[in-house]
Amino acid sequence: MHPGKGTAQPSKLNILDLEESIIQIHRRLARVTIENLPCGDVIQRYVRPQTFFYLDPPYYGIKAYRLNFEPKDFEVLAQTLAKMKGRFLMSLNDHKEVRHIFGGFKIQRSRCATAACASPAATVPRAERSRSVTTNRDQILWKMYTFHLFLG
Ligand SMILES: C[S@@+](CC[C@H](N)C(=O)[O-])C[C@H]1O[C@@H](n2cnc3c(N)ncnc32)[C@H](O)[C@@H]1O
Repeated sequence: MHPGKGTAQPSKLNILDLEESIIQIHRRLARVTIENLPCGDVIQRYVRPQTFFYLDPPYYGIKAYRLNFEPKDFEVLAQTLAKMKGRFLMSLNDHKEVRHIFGGFKIQRSRCATAACASPAATVPRAERSRSVTTNRDQILWKMYTFHLFLG
């Protein structure tokens, strides 16, 4: 549910649907575990050969969140992923340092609309951001998989 944020469009919150929405959310989350831990701790806790992780870390070079990643954090994450015995898919902005740090993994280009990189909170000067985050809120994402784990 995303209540409207401005006057240009009506709120999507319909009070008449609230009870049904809460029931649906309850059903959807009934068997979900929510952790509030650093991602490295979550990986350690749940990693198994059959585990599949979807990782959506803060974007490289952009401070859009209360908690952001420094370059060193990406290096630590890359080392953790290289050692672990699970599979993962990670979306991240297209930046030369990202390609370097995660260069050992398979990558696939994908486009998707995003608002995060266009956030006024981003502290990296526009000219220094990667080309992909500067126009039309489009961003090139990199998907990374560890294929060796499929082999057994
Ligand atoms: C790109 S956003 C993910 C958004 C999320 N996938 C969603 O759809 O709401 C990156 C998130 O990682 C969080 N974060 C920052 N440092 C983290 C850490 N060490 N471990 C786990 N999450 C972290 C940020 O607070 C931010 O919410």
